[in-house]
Amino acid sequence: MSIDRDALVDPERILGALKGFAKDEPESGIIQVFNYGRDREGIIPMWVGQGDLPTPKFIYDAAVRSLEAGETFYTYQRGLPELRQTLADYHARLYRKPFDAENFFITGSGMQAMQTVVQAIAGEGDEIVVPSPAWTNYPAPMRLAGVKPVEVPLDFANGSWSLDLDKLFDAVTPRTRAICANTPSNPLGWVMSADDILAIRDFCRQRGIWIVADEVYARFYYGPGSENGALPPSFLDVCETDEQFLLVNTFSKNWAMTGWRVGWLQAPKAMGQVIENLVQYNTSGTAAFMQRACITAMQDGEALVAQQVEQSRIGRDIVCSALRQAPGVRFQEPEGAFYLFFSIDGVQDSAAFTRRMIDEIAVGLAPGTAFGPGGDNFMRLCYARSAASLEEAMGRLVPWLNAL
Ligand SMILES: Cc1ncc(COP(=O)(O)O)c(C=O)c1O
Repeated sequence: MSIDRDALVDPERILGALKGFAKDEPESGIIQVFNYGRDREGIIPMWVGQGDLPTPKFIYDAAVRSLEAGETFYTYQRGLPELRQTLADYHARLYRKPFDAENFFITGSGMQAMQTVVQAIAGEGDEIVVPSPAWTNYPAPMRLAGVKPVEVPLDFANGSWSLDLDKLFDAVTPRTRAICANTPSNPLGWVMSADDILAIRDFCRQRGIWIVADEVYARFYYGPGSENGALPPSFLDVCETDEQFLLVNTFSKNWAMTGWRVGWLQAPKAMGQVIENLVQYNTSGTAAFMQRACITAMQDGEALVAQQVEQSRIGRDIVCSALRQAPGVRFQEPEGAFYLFFSIDGVQDSAAFTRRMIDEIAVGLAPGTAFGPGGDNFMRLCYARSAASLEEAMGRLVPWLNAL
């Protein structure tokens, strides 16, 4: 039998042989603009969710020491026991109640914690309800698992966002497996009230569905009492760690470790073996030397967290006061996370507008279209950067908007 080599390697044939979900999933709207502008001369990159500080030496030294000690072998699927204990101690310190190491599982990033959640609780034909605009990476892992994300847009009126709980609960059907709530929110900087958290908990308990909380920005809070260390309202305040409650978190943001790809999942102890299996069959675990660095970050990194939060607080003030001077710009002052989500009157196509901004003033923002229903004519700006860089960005952006 003669084989036509050109036909064998034909890209269209290869793509045609892929399974639907993987083939059809669109590119991330953030990565699209990132790729469009990443090599531009003088670009100020505020499109992705990270600061401009490289991981400090005291953290990566712990990884180096671990490598030098030969920690290069397969490791615990649930995570190093020492790191799981460090997580329990960290949470006990922050939330002033006891936590058990057995409820913590190390994952290859917050992203992968979310993927594990979806794999564990939902499958083909199921639905997960998500308030939107939301982090771009919720719907994709759901669709990849055959799960339908049901996005419920928050309302933006008179300069503030609000979640209509009736609308949220009406979106729950017999196929719904979970409500997935992110607070403080990426991209909105909005913080869910304690009352809303309680109402969601009670509703989920009553319906027997999962509460999935994503609180990766819990340390970045500027609301009442935050100057004295108060945290935003949290599902951890009101949920039992061993109920139908899953919490996604990450080392990425607090400790300037986005490139390390280590996160954690907090889950009922009853799920221990299931999560261990999912880790085994997805990644077979997170490198031990990286976990050693995470232990050091959590144990010795409070000053670093404080420094990062303070930088973001200053950054928030810089961008909010600058954009208040620009015509037709609307936003709610963020109470948490490190994003400003704003619209500009008359701008409909935020994807085209963010590309134009890159071309004309080398300022890199993420288009609101990337964040699902409700975000279309908004743009997201990450202000976790040095004051000097933000002043420079605002010095380009505000006069440009004024001249449009
Ligand atoms: C809301 C939210 N959850 C989870 C993550 C996951 O972070 P990572 O995959 O870097 O751990 C991010 C990252 O931007 C996020 O914004």
